[in-house]
Amino acid sequence: MILRDLNLDDLDQICEIENQSFSNPWSKEMFLGSFLSPNYRTIVSEENGEILGYMSIIATKDIFEIINIAVKKERRNLKIGTTLILKAKEICKNVNASQIYLEVRPSNTPAINLYKKQGFKVDGIRPKYYGDEDAILMSYDSED
Ligand SMILES: CC(C)(COP(=O)(O)OP(=O)(O)OC[C@H]1O[C@@H](n2cnc3c(N)ncnc32)[C@H](O)[C@@H]1OP(=O)(O)O)[C@@H](O)C(=O)NCCC(=O)NCCS
Repeated sequence: MILRDLNLDDLDQICEIENQSFSNPWSKEMFLGSFLSPNYRTIVSEENGEILGYMSIIATKDIFEIINIAVKKERRNLKIGTTLILKAKEICKNVNASQIYLEVRPSNTPAINLYKKQGFKVDGIRPKYYGDEDAILMSYDSED
């Protein structure tokens, strides 16, 4: 398994994972837009041409945020999500960011457990962020 930056040939596989993972999936156009934006970066986990998972981050001089992370359904619970979060921490260190931010649905136990296991702390709640559900705001302090 390798971690590398997204390329355009990955988009079909990424959209397939996105569609099986979220009720409001990103479209191909949204991934394309993020691909073209200098502040966005998407890292994919790949094995012999198969995309196993991916993570999109936004990194500006003020903010470092994980926007999106998903692992292919049949490849979950194999530490691929963990590997992607560890990569985010590495990038965070390389760009001298002090914190990583993210939002998660309170109902998303697998993701919350993953983030907590990786040292993310709960900062608060953003009411009705997802329309039907609040968001839990979490952050990781790279200096802890
Ligand atoms: C959340 C997600 C990315 C986790 O990826 P993963 O590769 O399966 O996770 P890992 O194998 O690295 O698991 C790491 C830890 O997360 C937690 N976890 C993962 N899956 C879990 C589950 N089904 N139930 C409870 N905890 C879970 C556990 O604490 C696990 O550690 P452990 O195996 O030592 O118990 C994956 O479930 C996914 O793609 N979900 C759909 C998309 C999504 O919800 N993304 C997050 C949006 S905020």
